[in-house]
Amino acid sequence: MKTIDELLTEGVDGTRVFVRADLNVPLADGTITDDGRIRAVLPTVKALAEAGAKVIVASHLGRPKGAPDPAFSLLPAAVRLGELLGTHVAFAQDTVGPAAHDAVKGLEPGQVAVIENLRFNPGETSKDDTERAQFADQLAALADAYVGDGFGAVHRKHASVYDLPARLPHYAGYLIATEVGVLKKLTEDVKRPYAVVLGGAKVSDKLGVIDHLLEKADRILIGGGMAYTFLKAKGYEVGASLLQEDQIPAVQDYLRRADARGVEFVLPTDIKVAAEFPDLKTKAPAHPTTVAADAIPGDQMGLDLGPETAKRYAAKLADAATVFWNGPMGVFEHPDYAEGTRAVAQALVDSQGFTVVGGGDSAAAVRILGFDENAFGHISTGGGASLEYLEGKTLPGLAALEN
Ligand code: 3PG
Repeated sequence: MKTIDELLTEGVDGTRVFVRADLNVPLADGTITDDGRIRAVLPTVKALAEAGAKVIVASHLGRPKGAPDPAFSLLPAAVRLGELLGTHVAFAQDTVGPAAHDAVKGLEPGQVAVIENLRFNPGETSKDDTERAQFADQLAALADAYVGDGFGAVHRKHASVYDLPARLPHYAGYLIATEVGVLKKLTEDVKRPYAVVLGGAKVSDKLGVIDHLLEKADRILIGGGMAYTFLKAKGYEVGASLLQEDQIPAVQDYLRRADARGVEFVLPTDIKVAAEFPDLKTKAPAHPTTVAADAIPGDQMGLDLGPETAKRYAAKLADAATVFWNGPMGVFEHPDYAEGTRAVAQALVDSQGFTVVGGGDSAAAVRILGFDENAFGHISTGGGASLEYLEGKTLPGLAALEN
């Protein structure tokens, strides 16, 4: 895989460089609530601009349906990118139309333009190779070189991620190089004990990664909504908690395999429950109670780890040499249900080992709960992408950069 450093050595003065970033940031009423992904691509954009490239930054945002939709405009992200760079960033209101061509033509060496959400064009996400190829051809006409730095999207076989690199000299940006380096440490020559903490709502999202990690990890700690399917698989009643009945056989198989391999599966022993899901807007007090994991009342739902479990999970992470964490332990957005997630985050901060926070909700949780990002070994920008890497899958966006 050629890296951006090789491109910089070749020289980029006046070269039009297309940077495929992942600026898919969370927005509330048009305001960015976590700009981590924009900050993550700054080293690449700055290095190219400082070397005199004409930088074209492109990304998706959300999941629009292949047509312009103002709710998913990349404009807020472009504005934030300009603020962080401390320079004017041009914004094109289309992807490959006249606005994009004008914006690129207007760039002087060292200047940056952002084009509109790539998913406003149906060719970006199309399953039809020809349709994707047509869009990739149009994107290729905007630039002379391609830098892949949208780590969060490398698991997508999309035109700008997979087809476009084949049409231009292509290089990996600094973010992708860092993320891949970290993931290698979690898959090759892993320092032990290796503990993995998995949370989030659905077991079905994590099946592949659990399957793979059963062969690699020493301990797997389970929290969040998915924990209730595990508790049910052990024969406990889980009341009104999130449950994926259809996943119970798979979970039972994991528990059996873990036992046979000597992998420690750690499940909650106490749970914070309430009759209703909390109001995340008003954050009104939820008045939860704590019950044993095998005694969840029929009309109550589990919403966070109990204090005894939070303490036990922290202890299970204390001596780990490597920790990977993906997915919150409870409804951390509400103060009454943030303690489980906070305890895991704090355990990673206190750890002497190499700690990695998977992207998505767990990365957002770390920031929202006020932790210093530098206290973690690495906070990934890609939730789905890092999970698929750990599953051992070939990621289209990385394969395209390697060819
Ligand atoms: C993400 O948020 O995980 C990435 O930006 C990919 O987004 P997607 O799941 O909509 O493809």
